[in-house]
Amino acid sequence: MELESKGLLQVPPSGVARFVSAHDVKDINALVRRALEYKANPFKNQTMGTHKRIGLLFLNPSMRTRLSTQIAAQNLGMEAIVFNVGSEGWALEFEEEAIMSGSKVEHVKDAAPIMGKYFDILCIRTFPSLQNRDDDYSELYINQFIKYAGIPVVSLESATLHPLQSLTDIITITEVLQNHKPQTTNRKPKIVLTWAPHVKALPQCVANSFSQWINAWKEADFTITHPEDYELDEQFTKGATITHNQEEALKGADFVYVKNWSTYTDYGKIYCNDPEWMLTNEKLRLTNNAKVMHCLPVRRNVELSDEILDSSNSIITQQASNRVWAAQAVLAEILQHKFS
Ligand code: CP
Repeated sequence: MELESKGLLQVPPSGVARFVSAHDVKDINALVRRALEYKANPFKNQTMGTHKRIGLLFLNPSMRTRLSTQIAAQNLGMEAIVFNVGSEGWALEFEEEAIMSGSKVEHVKDAAPIMGKYFDILCIRTFPSLQNRDDDYSELYINQFIKYAGIPVVSLESATLHPLQSLTDIITITEVLQNHKPQTTNRKPKIVLTWAPHVKALPQCVANSFSQWINAWKEADFTITHPEDYELDEQFTKGATITHNQEEALKGADFVYVKNWSTYTDYGKIYCNDPEWMLTNEKLRLTNNAKVMHCLPVRRNVELSDEILDSSNSIITQQASNRVWAAQAVLAEILQHKFS
């Protein structure tokens, strides 16, 4: 049956669609089905984006997001142009009424409208500074692009969220459940997000976003486990069970999502790098033979052990490969909204 393919995104009063959080999606399961349709038939809408151009702006590094979004756009017939603004562009100023006497060369309110003329869809990656929580959590950078570009904006990971990653994660969980239904008959799957050690202070984006999407999805029994002082922002985690006891959390889990993040309350710090928090086969025995997920890149034998990453429990490659179908479903929704 052909899926009803229009109107899966919430369109704001401006009439310009965007994809920056779970709140931009009306029906997550329908978007997942659309993505899986593209996985089964990547070129089913290969002329949808003919003569349409997508700009991929990177203020920060990327491998999966950059490549998968380009492939997704090309599968829809779009021309994709990558611009590494962070390393190759003029240094952008984002603050309103800034006196630009420092190192910033061009204001976003001058640059973004031009990109709005060059492109039909604008995709942006802007990591947080991890210096000032209020600044990062205001999402100033991506919001300024939304305000001034005048065309649909897609987040390729912003200061607090990574929505294409989270959509991919739910696509992957759905696929696994479709193939292993007996594991979770008559109950919701148990999904555990566990903090893991790392050598650097990392953003909370992936953990925030995964929490926001799993809570919005409402189809899982969701537990978050982390050391004391690593609480995430409640606006994303509310609804989940939260515990500092990792072993308790892992009991009976069907999926374990492993991710490091720095502190939220005393912002951007590393308090604890206890290697005991790294997932091992011994800990995995507490679970329901759980599938293990990670957004990648991963620091082997710091965040996650070789024995897990190289085992049949790991679904990280399947997960990363699904980034294409998540991006394709979102871009198709935007194209259909904008041009049909
Ligand atoms: N997971 C993810 O976003 O990977 P990249 O940083 O390589 O794009």
